[in-house]
Amino acid sequence: MSKLILTAVSSFSLMCYFTNWAQYRKDKGKFLTSDVDPHLCTHIIFAFGGIDSTNRLTTTGHNDFQLYKSINGLKQQNPNLKTLLAVGGWAAGSESFSRMVSTQASRRAFIQSSMEFLRKNDFDGLDLDWEYPAQRGSPQSDRHRFSLLCKELREAYENESKSNNQSRLLITAGVSAANESISKSYEAAEIGTHLDFINVMTYDFRGTWEGVTGHHSQLTKMPYDTGRDLYLNADFALKRWHGLGVPANKLNMGIAAYGRTFQLAGHSSHIGAPIIGPASAGAFTKEPGFWSYYEICTFLQGATVRYTQGVPYATKHNEWVGYDDENSCVAKVSPQLNNFGGAFVWALDLDDFSGLFCGAGNYSFIRCLRSQLPTQRQTTMRPTQRQTITTMKPTQRQTTMKPTQRQTTMRPTQPQTNANPTQRQTTPQPKPAAVPSSNTQGFCASRANGLYAKPDAPSSFYSCDNGVTYIMQCVPALVFRQSCLCCDWPWIYS
Ligand SMILES: *[C@@H]1O[C@H](CO)[C@@H](O)[C@H](O)[C@H]1NC(C)=O
Ligand SMILES: *[C@@H]1O[C@H](CO)[C@@H](O)[C@H](O)[C@H]1NC(C)=O
Ligand SMILES: *[C@@H]1O[C@H](CO)[C@@H](O)[C@H](O)[C@H]1NC(C)=O
Ligand SMILES: *[C@@H]1O[C@H](CO)[C@@H](O)[C@H](O)[C@H]1NC(C)=O
Repeated sequence: MSKLILTAVSSFSLMCYFTNWAQYRKDKGKFLTSDVDPHLCTHIIFAFGGIDSTNRLTTTGHNDFQLYKSINGLKQQNPNLKTLLAVGGWAAGSESFSRMVSTQASRRAFIQSSMEFLRKNDFDGLDLDWEYPAQRGSPQSDRHRFSLLCKELREAYENESKSNNQSRLLITAGVSAANESISKSYEAAEIGTHLDFINVMTYDFRGTWEGVTGHHSQLTKMPYDTGRDLYLNADFALKRWHGLGVPANKLNMGIAAYGRTFQLAGHSSHIGAPIIGPASAGAFTKEPGFWSYYEICTFLQGATVRYTQGVPYATKHNEWVGYDDENSCVAKVSPQLNNFGGAFVWALDLDDFSGLFCGAGNYSFIRCLRSQLPTQRQTTMRPTQRQTITTMKPTQRQTTMKPTQRQTTMRPTQPQTNANPTQRQTTPQPKPAAVPSSNTQGFCASRANGLYAKPDAPSSFYSCDNGVTYIMQCVPALVFRQSCLCCDWPWIYS
C-alpha cells in the first residue's frame, strides 16, 4: 500500500533570466530560444519589456513577439514551467518608471495594459526591474510610489483572476542588495506583502571602480573585511531584507553565471591587489570587465584557481576573475535554501548552454544550482520568480590607485551625473534597452541580421531584420557600443 504524505513544503524556485539580445552574439555564443531547456528552471523571466510614453507595457526588441511565442511555447513541453516578463533593467533607468508611478491614473494605465499584454502573450506574471526607485534621477517620493504600484498591481491582478477564472498573474521584483540602497529605495516590509517573490541581486558587489581586485559575488564576509565591506555579500543582503520584514520564503538569492574581471597592475594576485582596469573583453560577450561562465571555462586552462569563503577566483598572466562555479554553487545554495525561497540566475545565455566549452554537458552551472534544490512536488504552487542587479561602491578605494595607472581602459570610478556619489551601481549584463523610433529603408538592404552602430548618432543604432532597417534609440544618457552590441554608459570604457 502506498502511503501518501503531503507535507506543506514550500516550493523552491529557480528563476532563470532569458535576454532578448543574446541572439546577436557570434558563433558559439549565439543564444536562441531553441537553446532554452524547458525543464531546467521553475521560472523563465524574459528580459526586458519597457514602458512607453503613455505608460503602457511594451516590447524593447524588434522580434520580441516572436521570442515571447517561443519561450511561452515551452510550457507545452513542461506544463509546470512559469514565465514572467521583466520590465525595466539597468539601462532603462528610472525615467519611465518615475513617470508611470507619478499618479494613480498613470499607474492604472500601466497596470491595465500589463494585464492585457501578459495574457495576450501567454505570460504568467510580471517582474519589476526598476533600478532603482528614489535613485538615478528618481525623486525620493518614488520610494512610496513604488509601494503603491506593488499594492495596486496585486489588487488588480487578484480581481482579474477572479473575473477570468484564471490563475492570478504573479508579481515579482528585482531589488538592490546594497545596504544603503535598500533603505533608500524600498519600503521593504510593505512591498514584501504584495509581491510574490523578491529577487535580491546579490552580485556585482565589486568591480574595477574600486581600483583593486575583489570578488563580485561573495557569499559571506571575508575575515579581513571591515567597514562597508562587511555588507557586500549575499548573506548580509538576504538577512537585511528579511530583517526589514520580508518573509524569508519570498526572498530569492541572485546567482551570476558570469565573473567580474580585472587586469592586475603588479605581481600580487590576491583579493585587494592593485589593478589597471578590466581584463580584456570576452570573445563572445565582448564587454570589458565581464566574462560569461563559458568564457571563464576557456580562461581556466592554465590558470591558478583559489577559493576564499567558498567562492573561486582565478589568475593567469595579468588577468584576474572572481566568479562562481560548481563548487561555490553548492556552498551558496545549500545552506541558503534552509531559509530562503530559492535562487535566480542571471542569465541562461551566460552558462555553458551548449556544453561546448566546459566539458561537463549543457548548462553545467545551472544544473548544479538545480541539483541543490529540493525536488518535492509542490502541493501549493508558489509563485516565484527572479532577479537582478546590484550595485555599488565606489569611492573609498580610489586612493589606492595611482592616477597614472588609470589611463587606458578605466575611467574615474564616479560619474558626476550620478546623483548620489556613494553609490555606483553596475549591471550584471549587457544593457540593451532601446526603443524603436522609426523604420527606414536602405541601410540593412544588404546586411546580415544584427545591430550596427550609427556613426552620426552615438545614442542610436541600426537593427537589421531580414533586410528591414530599424533605427533604435538607447535610453537617455547611454550610447551604443559596437564591442558589446549594447547601450552603455559613455564614461565607463573608452
Ligand atoms: C542538453 O543535454 C541533454 C542530455 O544530453 C539533452 O537531452 C538536451 O536536449 C540538451 N539540451 C539542449 C537545450 O541542448
Ligand atoms: C474588479 O473587476 C470588476 C469586474 O471586472 C471591475 O468592474 C472592477 O472595476 C475591478 N476593480 C478593480 C479595483 O480593479
Ligand atoms: C473555473 O475554472 C475551473 C477549472 O479551471 C472550473 O472547474 C470551474 O468550473 C470554473 N468556474 C467558472 C465559474 O467558470
Ligand atoms: C544599513 O543601512 C541602514 C540605513 O542606511 C543603517 O541604519 C544601518 O546601520 C546599515 N547597516 C549596517 C550594518 O551598516
